[in-house]
Amino acid sequence: MPDDVSPHSPARQSPANMPAPLISARPNAPLAGIAAVPGDKSISHRALMFGALAVGRTVITGLLEGEDVLATAAALRAMGAAIERAPDGSWRVDGVGVGGLAEPDNVLDLGNSGTSARLLLGILATHPFTSFVTGDESLRRRPMRRVTEPLSRFGAQFLCREGARLPLAVTGAANPVPIVYRLPVPSAQVKSAVLLAGLNTPGATSVVEPEPTRDHTERMLGHFGASVVVEPEPGGGRRITLTGQPELVAAPITVPGDPSSAAFPLVAALIVPGSEVTIANVGLNPSRTGLFTSLREMGADITYQNERIAGGEPVADLRVRAGALTSADIPPGRAPTMIDEYPILALAAACAHGRTVMRGLAELRVKESDRLAGIAEGLARCGVHVTVEGDDLLVEGDGGPPRGGALIATRLDHRIAMAFLVLGLAARDPVRIDDARPIATSFPDFVPLMTRLGAAFRAGT
Ligand code: S3P
Repeated sequence: MPDDVSPHSPARQSPANMPAPLISARPNAPLAGIAAVPGDKSISHRALMFGALAVGRTVITGLLEGEDVLATAAALRAMGAAIERAPDGSWRVDGVGVGGLAEPDNVLDLGNSGTSARLLLGILATHPFTSFVTGDESLRRRPMRRVTEPLSRFGAQFLCREGARLPLAVTGAANPVPIVYRLPVPSAQVKSAVLLAGLNTPGATSVVEPEPTRDHTERMLGHFGASVVVEPEPGGGRRITLTGQPELVAAPITVPGDPSSAAFPLVAALIVPGSEVTIANVGLNPSRTGLFTSLREMGADITYQNERIAGGEPVADLRVRAGALTSADIPPGRAPTMIDEYPILALAAACAHGRTVMRGLAELRVKESDRLAGIAEGLARCGVHVTVEGDDLLVEGDGGPPRGGALIATRLDHRIAMAFLVLGLAARDPVRIDDARPIATSFPDFVPLMTRLGAAFRAGT
């Protein structure tokens, strides 16, 4: 049997309960072609949630059909929203109206998805019934106090394990009171949880964010007819104020391609010599483009073509050509605009000339895995000189390909898995990851898409 797994997703290749190791090696030829990445994960979750809370039918085109988003759909269905995929690939959501969800009769299992868990807890906090929420081993390790603490102020009650981790039980407030909440961490998930709780709360709920984070929730609230005011906050940052208990009206949504997924073929095209790739329909919301800014500072040849507005979000086709990269100093203030992109940026830095410093990465420790540790450990195994100083990551490159030749533990983290597979395409020796299954959470067609561009992946232990 040939060991080349393309064109099928590794997750579909192996029995569900067995790890799917995958090896990535230098391809025989440069990467070339046009690829369209799947829909934006953040926007897809929100489209389903707002559709479920609206009155009428919301039609979503371009929804990401990854495991994380399907977990959100399943949870909303369990609470009474009708959600189905139409034969043309669009999704239809028949909403129940703000405050109209019903008590689920079983535990809500949100798999690997932090966004599902935190945003749904916001919705549940002001629905007066009790729900039980859990997730996979990775999600059960992640901190939930950052949402349970503000949501308790609305009057919700939580029964939690040590450290406010899943599984937990939540009883939503019957008579919620609005709050003003200043984010202690720059997190769009926390901001969104508070705003979603504010939806079924009379009066004005405000969130103050000292550093701007992705604003898809605010945009979508407006799109569905809620009254949302975004103002600059004296002293920096911004204040988002939502008037509670609006009638949300179903509205069509077009989901742009996910810049966080585009990052992987994009960096692959930069570091495999001679490559030229176009990635079509990539979302360029300014709160998401820190990676592209950083790579351009490093000398990357990335051109935005055909810039347009689609579904209320800026999008473009990105043409990328391989070339020499130099080091950069990435400021901490940029982190919220590229928080999911540090694994892939670190690998680009390992192929660049000089020392790249990525500052202010504390939040990376509480992602699907401890990404700060995972990046540092994986790169060191691949022969790259890397150090962690406090919350900063320092990666040294000599401008040539790293050695590679290592086994990487993916620890239920899709982005660690994809990043190291990309490194294997440029490294001198192949890179092996212990399990490719987590990739299906955000980018189910990663392997066939990369293979069509010319990547060389094969199954193997
Ligand atoms: C997300 C926000 C980010 C990001 C996550 C998706 C969102 O998390 O890492 O993948 O959709 O709001 P934080 O808000 O915790 O930084």
